[in-house]
Amino acid sequence: MAPPKHDSRMRVLQGDITRLEVDAIVNAANSSLLGGGGVDGAIHRAAGPELLAECRGLGGCPTGEARITRGYRLPARHVIHTVGPVWQGGTQGEPDLLAACYRNSLALAVAHGLRSIAFPAISCGIYGYPIDRATAIAVRETNAFLSGDTTLKTVSFVAFGAEILGAYRMELDL
Ligand code: AR6
Repeated sequence: MAPPKHDSRMRVLQGDITRLEVDAIVNAANSSLLGGGGVDGAIHRAAGPELLAECRGLGGCPTGEARITRGYRLPARHVIHTVGPVWQGGTQGEPDLLAACYRNSLALAVAHGLRSIAFPAISCGIYGYPIDRATAIAVRETNAFLSGDTTLKTVSFVAFGAEILGAYRMELDL
């Protein structure tokens, strides 16, 4: 039998990422790390003001990089904040920056000894990244990362809506 195309530790879920009991949820933040709309707003509301207080001490985060905080009132123990690129037509380095978000978030999780992590579809909302291209990058980068890691047990891709759910299912042959 042919080996599976994708690492079986990758999962696709539909729903609200703030409800997940995992070691870390990833936040699609902006470079100020001081909150915003979309999933960022939802995470800050659910975590409570202590999260913003910790974020204030981080001094921001450049696009493509990631930072870790505690999860406070969230069921998740940690939040990994990453800053996706704003889609500008694809010629401004957006694919590499989005790939870096996934790689850097996963590396941070491993560096902190975490076993389970859940990603929203970074850049696919307010930042306007085309969904099919973004989910392809998410799956490709995560699969490549997992091929060199044995510590992570599950990586979940959380779709808020049906379109992103379908895109992930297609990418992962589910
Ligand atoms: N759970 C899971 N996914 C969610 C949730 C949720 N509770 N809420 C939204 N999504 P976006 P971006 C999905 O706009 O495009 C903020 O203002 C949403 O449907 O949250 O990276 C930041 O501060 C979409 O598929 O993030 C930045 O300024 C995905 O999460 C900017 O938005 C990402 O959409 C970042 O924009």
